[in-house]
Amino acid sequence: MQRTLSIIKPDGVSRKLIGKVIKKLEKSGLKIIAMKMLHMTRAQAEGFYAVHKERPFFASLTDFMCSGPVVVMVLEGENAISIYRDLMGATNFKNAAEGTIRREYATDIEKNVVHGSDSPESAAFEIGYFFNSFEIVK
Ligand code: CMP
Repeated sequence: MQRTLSIIKPDGVSRKLIGKVIKKLEKSGLKIIAMKMLHMTRAQAEGFYAVHKERPFFASLTDFMCSGPVVVMVLEGENAISIYRDLMGATNFKNAAEGTIRREYATDIEKNVVHGSDSPESAAFEIGYFFNSFEIVK
């Protein structure tokens, strides 16, 4: 069993895509074991994406991520990290496979609707960033 963090980004929430994203998640067999909506401050967005702080898109990305509410979830299942990454599709929606969330809904390399952890180490950091143990159902 593996866990991964999912975020429905501000573009996904404002475009009323929460239901559509969750429907795809549930259909994939992944189990939602924690979920909440929150609106990050700039400092919280910068802390979350600290790994990208040297990238040219860091300021724009963190601006975007604190521009409105997001839905954060913990997903659980066998190979949850790669299953969810396959379901999201490539970061650049133009390269994303047919049927993926980003192919269907993303409009921009930055406004790409969803985020997912890319490794067990980042999943552990990202889940701990948003949830304490009482907020994750067993
Ligand atoms: P995410 O999976 O959340 O991880 C980092 C985010 O940075 C990514 O999705 C995009 O939203 C954003 N991102 C990645 N590459 C670029 C880029 N070249 N230009 C702008 N934003 C990017």
